[in-house]
Amino acid sequence: MTLLAIETSCDETSVAVVRDGRVLASLVSSQIKLHAEYGGVVPELAAREHLRNLLPVAEAALDAAKISRDELDAIAATQGPGLPNALLVGLKAAQAMAFVLRKPFFGINHHEAHLYSPWISGAPPVADFGAFEPNVSLIVSGGHTMLVHVESELKHRVLGATIDDAAGECFDKVAKLIGLPYPGGPEIDRLASQGNAKAYDFPRPMLRDAGDDFSFSGLKTSARYFLRDHPEVLESAKALRDLCASVQAAIVEVLVTKAVRAARRQQVNCITASGGVTCNSALRQELATACRRENLKLRLAERSLCTDNAAMIGVLAERKLAARVEESSLDAEIMPGWALA
Ligand code: KG4
Ligand code: ZN
Repeated sequence: MTLLAIETSCDETSVAVVRDGRVLASLVSSQIKLHAEYGGVVPELAAREHLRNLLPVAEAALDAAKISRDELDAIAATQGPGLPNALLVGLKAAQAMAFVLRKPFFGINHHEAHLYSPWISGAPPVADFGAFEPNVSLIVSGGHTMLVHVESELKHRVLGATIDDAAGECFDKVAKLIGLPYPGGPEIDRLASQGNAKAYDFPRPMLRDAGDDFSFSGLKTSARYFLRDHPEVLESAKALRDLCASVQAAIVEVLVTKAVRAARRQQVNCITASGGVTCNSALRQELATACRRENLKLRLAERSLCTDNAAMIGVLAERKLAARVEESSLDAEIMPGWALA
């Protein structure tokens, strides 16, 4: 089976070609530089940029995969959740391709696809479903923070999610307070690597809450009050590094503790993680340490597959095709608020 997959839910225009679990090509045209000037993603600009880039990226992906259109067995695209006009560009292009080629079309839930990106690895990347096992999956990005129990392939249940800000949003907003460029997560990661995580004590929101929900807006606010009361921190490179390390440690401790606790409760032996924040070095390291201590397996999405990409969309669509899941309608509309069940 050979599929072409499109992802345009936010600010990455991505197209992948997947054949029998192998990612033959996965191209991502990132718009980060375009939005950086505004300090965040501007939805209308994102949609226009997708419109400009999608077809060239799709042509380039087919070329890189050495696949002609006639060889495609199905087309897939992210149907939601995401920015409405951004989703619209990818979804309608995919449906048009499926219509012209007379092939099945799959509208994919972006979060469901994230659940499978940790199973794709290697160069060239291959989806290793032979190794698949029930897991608790942490999806942690700029828009979302959630824990999902993946009972088996294509069967999952959301355990909890953030009730306010996502972890990535917290990284980005704290970075903005300090005056770091957007997106702030990688900048905080970089500065934190040379800082003392015990220098300042920040709250660990909902850490003691037995449920699987998260909350990060209070942490962002406490960083704001901290800077109001200690403006001198902004004048010292060392104090700034310590601040970044301390805030990062608070976010990471909450994510790791709750993921491990959920895995224990669901009686799974494996934790997986994906989403942009999974690029964070401290999160990767602390998850590894905790999983070793708790005798749990850990599958982290490769850094290039943590952020939004069409490879995960294609891999999930191929599993659906193989499992004979009903194809989506060519009239199906975008679902910007499509919550994972
Ligand atoms: O998954 P993603 O590319 O887009 C969505 O939000 O859907 O995630 C982007 C988020 C941003 O908030 C960014 O700051 C964060 O991931 N991020 C990081 C790191 N790399 C990206 N946060 C902390 N440390 C990083 N190294
Ligand atoms: Zn995502």
